[in-house]
Amino acid sequence: TTNHLRHVESMASLPSGAGKISHLNAVILGEALASEENDFVFPSDDFSRQALIPSPHKYLEMYKRSIEDPAGFWSGIASSQFYWKQKWGDQVCSENLDVRKGDIKIEWFKGGITNICYNCLDRNIDAGLADKIALYWESNEPGFDAHLTYSQLLHRVCQLANYLKSIGVRKGDAVIVYLPMLMELPITMLACARIGAVHSVYILLPHKIVEKLDCKPKVVITCNAVRRGPKTINLKDIVDAALVESAKNGISIDVCLTYENQSALKRESTKWQEGRDVWWEDVVPKYPTTCDVEWVDAEDPLFLLYTSGSTGKPKGVLHTTGGYMVYTATTFKYAFDYKESDVYWCTADCGWITGHSYVTYGPMLNGATVVVYEGAPNYPDSGRCWDIVDKYKVTIFYTAPTLVRSLMRDGDEASCISNLVYTLKYPVQNYVTRYSRKSLRVLGSVGEPINPSAWRWFFNVVGGSRCPISDTWWQTETGGFMITPLPGAWPQKPGSATFPFFGVQPVIVDEKGTEIDGECSGYLCVKGSWPGAFRTLYGDHERYETTYFRPFPGYYFTGDGCSRDKDGYHWLTGRVDDVINVSGHRIGTAEVESALVSHPQCAEAAVVGVEHEVIKWSVASVKGQGIYAFVTLVEGVPYSEELRKSLILTVRNQIGAFAAPDKIHWAPGLPKTRSGKIMRRILRKIASRQLDELGDISTLAEPGVVDQLIALADS
Ligand code: PRX
Repeated sequence: TTNHLRHVESMASLPSGAGKISHLNAVILGEALASEENDFVFPSDDFSRQALIPSPHKYLEMYKRSIEDPAGFWSGIASSQFYWKQKWGDQVCSENLDVRKGDIKIEWFKGGITNICYNCLDRNIDAGLADKIALYWESNEPGFDAHLTYSQLLHRVCQLANYLKSIGVRKGDAVIVYLPMLMELPITMLACARIGAVHSVYILLPHKIVEKLDCKPKVVITCNAVRRGPKTINLKDIVDAALVESAKNGISIDVCLTYENQSALKRESTKWQEGRDVWWEDVVPKYPTTCDVEWVDAEDPLFLLYTSGSTGKPKGVLHTTGGYMVYTATTFKYAFDYKESDVYWCTADCGWITGHSYVTYGPMLNGATVVVYEGAPNYPDSGRCWDIVDKYKVTIFYTAPTLVRSLMRDGDEASCISNLVYTLKYPVQNYVTRYSRKSLRVLGSVGEPINPSAWRWFFNVVGGSRCPISDTWWQTETGGFMITPLPGAWPQKPGSATFPFFGVQPVIVDEKGTEIDGECSGYLCVKGSWPGAFRTLYGDHERYETTYFRPFPGYYFTGDGCSRDKDGYHWLTGRVDDVINVSGHRIGTAEVESALVSHPQCAEAAVVGVEHEVIKWSVASVKGQGIYAFVTLVEGVPYSEELRKSLILTVRNQIGAFAAPDKIHWAPGLPKTRSGKIMRRILRKIASRQLDELGDISTLAEPGVVDQLIALADS
């Protein structure tokens, strides 16, 4: 960290002001610069002047304080900006992060009594935001929309909270939520939080996951169907199938509260189980629009979010209330330079952590106006995002590199057209520049490293070279941003997440766990705790310790590789474990493998991730990493196109569409060591066609399989 401070200090002497800096011109010229690392993009003077953190000096001052006195720094924010029914005890933070010294424990604001829903809604309403728009909802179909003010949102939240109480949901109970991006999704999260129930939101609900649920829920909240682009997806059918599976594993759901999403499917066409299924619209509106808050301890659980690990079983990441509240609100405010007049849109689904922290909690805690979009970002065509930006005068737009790349691929000038209304409205086809986008002032990126060419397109074309990009590095586990630019504070380098947020001490270690200073690459760890950190893996504290705290004792291990350049900027290089990052979504290779081998004709499977640059043959070029699966078949089964499709379908059904392999590579045999371990290193090289880098294959039990695999690579 001293190293990091030194760099920011030296940056403080850099001049600001885009016009003065020749680097910026080089940036606009695109790939002209030889080295990305020397490639500074400066915030304009105008932007910096109005920014919350206008200079490296200001950042340094706050950062130093946050590291030297974390308790003072965070308790100052917690007590001045949030409502606490009762203040925390003597200790702001109590932690043990060293497995050698006993069980890992992280607690912030323990003994403090609060409620995050109260802080999102009641507190903001009391502060005068009753009539401010809280949510703008935009339907998949252009022209259909809705909105709620803060006080209307509170009423809706209270009605649902009262209904949940009436069916017996109590503090600490788990509620499964499987809803698309309707206003009812944040409403549901806030209603659970209001009564102290623990929400577990899913973006997918395959039976494989439900089988593994540790939290024994009694209630599922879902809707009948959703429209995504031209497709209608029947969510209720998926829930029904998952509940059949979970019943086999002893999880019985008493109530399945189903919202009737009329624009997608009418109730008459929805399959129904009397006694268990209840229409939201039939019951919830009958309940009172006020509901007392359940006051909870700062360390009471707020939500569970299941995420992929490097073994087959998903991990139930548990976040608690107080620290998460303070952390998401503060990171949102500074990383997006939030102002009261902003209109904020994050394209993430609430089923991911991004939607938890930066659709619902972070923005709402700041009293922000949030856009929630139901549909596909390229429907009816690739200009839809900018149509929405202009419609709602969005000022902060936060998305994932995969979307940036796919919109970039579709071009800022394009000819294809998919909708008659759009053809008439926009006779000149120009997906980005046909919209004004002048409301935009800050852009954000999350989920995977953003490659410099996509960064530049986002910056130059979408943001008109005027909006800083907050490339936020963080994880489900971290609760909020960890390494991120603070717009206006310092120059950016396209593709670098820059510097740590307040209170965060990233360290880069070598294989032995020794911290490396200066310009270096290695494993990214974090020293010390921060309020938003997850507290455990639900029902498996042992796995929490083994996965995150044992690999490099004394530190939290992120699972990511990282390098630090000569100016102290951080460059995330991707996962170093068996986790693949596809379009910013984490997928454990083991999960895909176990889905493949559940197919009756598949004997063995080995799955690796391949970088997008090398996969010219598939759509994976916009998805960051692609999934490449080697499969061996049951004796006597011939490989065919039909079998390939059926293998892919198996993965889609069991995990979800985003985990479907981009490439199935039929393998008569897999390269294994004599002890039977699959040599993934070799498979990765074959998958990325780096055949001259196979390395030593003499330790293989049967070196001949490598030639076979290469011969079959493009068949
Ligand atoms: O590998 C990193 C990558 O996404 C992982 C976390 O995934 P998940 O828990 O699903 O959360 C995604 C949204 C926070 C990280 O370990 N990642 C996330 N953001 C970035 C990133 N890699 C590089 N740059 C980022 N900005």
